[in-house]
Amino acid sequence: MSKEIIQLENVGFKVGNDEILTNINFSVKEGQIVTITGPSGGGKSTLLKLIGLLNSPTSGTIQYQGKNIFEYEPTEYRKEVSYFFQNAILFDDTVRDNLAFPAKIRGDEFDEGRAIEGLKIVQLPSTYLDKPIQDLSGGEKQRVALIRNLMYPPKVLLMDEVTSSLDKENRAIVVSYIRRLNKEKKTTVLWITHNQDEIDASSEIITINNGKLEETADGK
Ligand SMILES: Nc1ncnc2c1ncn2[C@@H]1O[C@H](COP(=O)(O)OP(=O)(O)OP(=O)(O)O)[C@@H](O)[C@H]1O
Ligand SMILES: [Mg+2]
Repeated sequence: MSKEIIQLENVGFKVGNDEILTNINFSVKEGQIVTITGPSGGGKSTLLKLIGLLNSPTSGTIQYQGKNIFEYEPTEYRKEVSYFFQNAILFDDTVRDNLAFPAKIRGDEFDEGRAIEGLKIVQLPSTYLDKPIQDLSGGEKQRVALIRNLMYPPKVLLMDEVTSSLDKENRAIVVSYIRRLNKEKKTTVLWITHNQDEIDASSEIITINNGKLEETADGK
């Protein structure tokens, strides 16, 4: 049995008198791929943002590795539990500048070999390193953003519909990279998706409807 890495207890989120999330209880085990699904406006993104430390619950607790997430130093927490935005923004230089950024903020040397390996996994040639960002297609940008996020693989990856704007081919590339990371690095994945391939890749499915956890069905 693998151990629980994230635990939510009676988590609620209210804005004024609006109850956006009510009494959410669930836990995620290390190495799992968990899908959060449910109708639009149900509260999925709100929930993921709470886990990503981008917002605070108004009631209940969220624990990461047995400790309340607010007890961690935020930048340290975010290195381990990384929230990947739908439209990740690359800055306007080259692919290399973007991929070197995670090393730069850590005061490390840029590991070019690793960047090239990442590019290869998402099916971009190493010559792309010196390509200006503005010359990339939307799908290519999203793939570069993914590698940038994963230059230092987090322990937990939170993703909010990151593949929804991609075509089938780009989506498959991204999904296979995530699965590989999950397999090789035991990265725990919590993603919001409506895509069947991603749902099929999950070990658990959580449905959020009208701010409440509806059911927990076992995936594959
Ligand atoms: N800060 C806020 N203030 C007021 N209302 C909010 C706030 N954040 C979210 N909501 C409301 O909470 C509800 C849930 O929003 P959320 O973005 O979590 O839904 P979702 O399940 O991700 O939907 P979608 O599938 O469309 O992305 C919505 O009705 C939204 O308008
Ligand atoms: Mg959403």
